[in-house]
Amino acid sequence: MEDNTRYLVRCEEASDWVRHVDEGTQIVNDFYLPQGPFEKNEMSDTIYHAGTKVNYHEHSQGYETFFIARGSVECTIRGKKAVAQTGDIVHLPPYTPHGFVFLEEGTIWRELFQEINMQQGILNKNMILKHYPDLYEDPEFIGMYREANGSFVREKEVQDIAPVVPKSEIPEIREPGFAWARHCGDGWELKLKVGRFECNGAKEVWEANLDAGITIEYQDPHPYFELYYITKGRVRFTILEGFADEAVFVAEAGSIVRIPPYAKHKIEVVEAAQLFDNGCEIRLMSMLEDLAAIRAARPQVLEDPVMKKKLLRKYKCFVTAFYKKA
Ligand SMILES: [Fe+2]
Repeated sequence: MEDNTRYLVRCEEASDWVRHVDEGTQIVNDFYLPQGPFEKNEMSDTIYHAGTKVNYHEHSQGYETFFIARGSVECTIRGKKAVAQTGDIVHLPPYTPHGFVFLEEGTIWRELFQEINMQQGILNKNMILKHYPDLYEDPEFIGMYREANGSFVREKEVQDIAPVVPKSEIPEIREPGFAWARHCGDGWELKLKVGRFECNGAKEVWEANLDAGITIEYQDPHPYFELYYITKGRVRFTILEGFADEAVFVAEAGSIVRIPPYAKHKIEVVEAAQLFDNGCEIRLMSMLEDLAAIRAARPQVLEDPVMKKKLLRKYKCFVTAFYKKA
């Protein structure tokens, strides 16, 4: 059973990993295992050696979101090819064919999986390779193995002949400037990088760019995990613990913070930060849009604390205060 109070993972610190598997052409470091019936919030790093190729294939289930933390990769997606690099995000819904060639030594694919259980898949593959290598030659077995994984192999020649196009022609590759929707205010900017509409409702992924002093309080207990990936700056977290008082720590760039259900918490930006909300249960896109309309049309709703709380809960938003400290 995984410890729910592993709040902080520093991605490059071996002591923070739950598992480390050297697969030869790549290394996998697991940070958080999938949770719940929909297998949400699995996060890991796969670090590739230069020249490693992942053959063209597609999945019948699961959502893969890759943050390129270092290096570059030639992506073939839906029959077109482009190079994605550090800072880009690649999001792949089911039935989106994809193949990769990792171009730089030590390219880091920082992964968020939903409804796929990748770590179990890797365990299964290594189990078969180590103990029953002959089964890899058995087409009937391999057919069963692939079906269980929901993985469908495409003809590899597609990857060879795919035309090179500008990245903007492959919408699954999201450059830093990309946003489905952008909202901003005094000291904050939010960019929708992955929509709920492309994850069958599982979640949405937001990039937040926050000035020092921005403070967000979540004092309304709720039954969901929260999952943040910090890419710039420093952020202080204060989390109410079940059996102790409070855990207080500062998360730096290159770390992931997971907050367990019902734990009231506070986020304070110590040094201008960029963070990704990778566990967003809030219907934030809908909420921001509706709040802007309500502010314009019936501002009295937002003056009344009872009505305001009701409205926020409608969107599963448990934020109780959002302000910028002087
Ligand atoms: Fe895949």
